[in-house]
Amino acid sequence: MKEDLKQYIEENKDRWLEELFELIRIPSISSKEAHKDDMYTACDWIKASLLEKGADKAEVYETEGHPAIYGEKMIDPSLPTVLVYGHYDVQPVEPLDLWKSKPFEPEIRDGKIYARGADDDKGQMFMHFAAFEYLVKTNQLPCNVKFMIEGEEEIGSPSLGKFMEDHRDMLAGDVILVSDTSMLSAENPSITTGLRGLSYVEVHVTGPNRDLHSGLYGGAVANPINELCKLIGSLTDENGKITVKGFYDDVEELSEEERKEMGRAPFDLEAYKKSLDLKEVAGEKGYSTLERVGIRPSLDVNGIWGGHTDKGAKTVLPSTAHAKISMRLVPHQDSKKITQLFKDHFLSIAPDCVKVEVEFLHGGEGYVSPTNTTEYQAASKAYELTYNKKPIPVRSGGSIPIISLFEKILGIKSILMGFGLESDAIHSPNENYPLTQFFRGIETIPHFYQFYTEMKK
Ligand code: BES
Ligand code: MN
Ligand code: MN
Repeated sequence: MKEDLKQYIEENKDRWLEELFELIRIPSISSKEAHKDDMYTACDWIKASLLEKGADKAEVYETEGHPAIYGEKMIDPSLPTVLVYGHYDVQPVEPLDLWKSKPFEPEIRDGKIYARGADDDKGQMFMHFAAFEYLVKTNQLPCNVKFMIEGEEEIGSPSLGKFMEDHRDMLAGDVILVSDTSMLSAENPSITTGLRGLSYVEVHVTGPNRDLHSGLYGGAVANPINELCKLIGSLTDENGKITVKGFYDDVEELSEEERKEMGRAPFDLEAYKKSLDLKEVAGEKGYSTLERVGIRPSLDVNGIWGGHTDKGAKTVLPSTAHAKISMRLVPHQDSKKITQLFKDHFLSIAPDCVKVEVEFLHGGEGYVSPTNTTEYQAASKAYELTYNKKPIPVRSGGSIPIISLFEKILGIKSILMGFGLESDAIHSPNENYPLTQFFRGIETIPHFYQFYTEMKK
């Protein structure tokens, strides 16, 4: 397989890039109402692409939110079935002025595709379409393949649980195959064995019933922004620990052995700091940077607003202040429980001079996958063939809420074969995806199918 696969990639790479660029040009931003039609355009494009690449059927499905696509090629019910998951929705693109080229007009510069979705997840998802095309067109597909592509990942997949419950039989399979994560570096392949959960809230602080003159009232009436800042400041202590009561109760503590094992992952802290223009990193005392994102929970303000933010000065004591706060969770922490703990805590520390409300935005559970499974071993061998190096297991700090739902609702475990790099700037201006990673992904995936099917026998 190896040589003819390389040749097939060489012969088709330009056409694949053109196809991917068509998909990228559709601005399918799931969080914005104005892009509702674009979600359907993207679905139709994906359906057509799957059919063209060899799926026996592909259909767009309505959900309570954005539509999803299901496609399949069943060759023999006695063979294993791999269910490929991906998401066609993307994050918003603001601030626009920081993009060197337009976010929905893909451009190749220095061997990288620059565009929103170039990596997350259109680029990574399309590697699976290309790999599938190769396997079908060269008559080498070793097992059954199903595709489930959704459009709500970036908003927490709120409608997908119901979609899966409604289509259990259709989605039945042996393993979920996903490329929506990253690897340690282009030289150090890794397989993601953990994702963090998430609890996302918005807090509202209200002071006086209207905006006030900050001279006539300043010093006599509580300022909601000042109070909000104090409240937020108190949510972490001097050791980087989160102060929400009960927050760490269920956190999985890793053994010294496991932490030592994790510490073997090649990680260059100096290069990390340099890439972010930072003099120093920060976080929970007693843990390394990889541990802080991989096995420890975190709390971050994602946005904060209120009062006068336009140009120039306006002397105002604002009536309200607001913040969006996300908490990344680790195995055994339950997102619903954490949201409740946060709410109780935040309300309990609020001073009487302001009114405080906590609103739930979305949440999801984390995931850990074992390494002693058929899928992990097959993925490991596939990466080794492409990269000439055995991949190491790494727990990522990111979240993909649907992965825990796959296990809960369908009873299927996932294998996270990501090819993204830290420098891809996902969710940021100038998101990019190196062509080398794109083509190496296409090269690795068919080997996964082959090893997986062989090992399953
Ligand atoms: N693909 C990312 C998650 C990711 C990226 C995991 C890199 C590991 C490595 C996904 O699209 C994402 O951004 N997820 C959101 C989930 C949220 C909006 C519910 C996240 O992590 O913020
Ligand atoms: Mn993604
Ligand atoms: Mn994302």
